[in-house]
Amino acid sequence: MRSVLFVCLGNICRSPLGEGILRDLAGKKGMPGDLEIDSAGTGNWHVGNPPDPRSVEVAARHGIDISPLRARQVRTADFERFDLVLAMDGDNLAELRRRAGARAPALEASGRLRRFLDRDVPDPYYGGPGGFDDVFDMLRRGAERLLDELAAR
Ligand code: 4NP
Repeated sequence: MRSVLFVCLGNICRSPLGEGILRDLAGKKGMPGDLEIDSAGTGNWHVGNPPDPRSVEVAARHGIDISPLRARQVRTADFERFDLVLAMDGDNLAELRRRAGARAPALEASGRLRRFLDRDVPDPYYGGPGGFDDVFDMLRRGAERLLDELAAR
């Protein structure tokens, strides 16, 4: 496992945070530098935009700079390019399954396409700023588990 893609709806709130948190943790834990981490959205509304200011803020409070990231939409080539494609919620996973088409059953059976956590990371976009702290904590716990999983392979 050398590459991880986080996917949410807009690629401005949850998945760029996941990307930044995992990169930060991997660096701190001295994981091999060739772990590629990226994020994308199933939707295209925010393509080219920086992360939501609330995501930038909560990351910055934890010493992580996600401000240079720019949103992009997921591509079918991502299913070949990334060893792991991790959906933030069940809707994102359903959309990825649809896009993967005939490849979806094998990707899911091997665990290469799955929901990141055993529950949905709630979309914080329309909520208050507290939602972003909750999302940050969920993502950080998930990122620690994922790094343990990757290290054990
Ligand atoms: P994200 O949050 O999927 O975590 O990036 C959202 C961002 C934008 C929208 C929805 C969710 N939107 O509807 O524009």
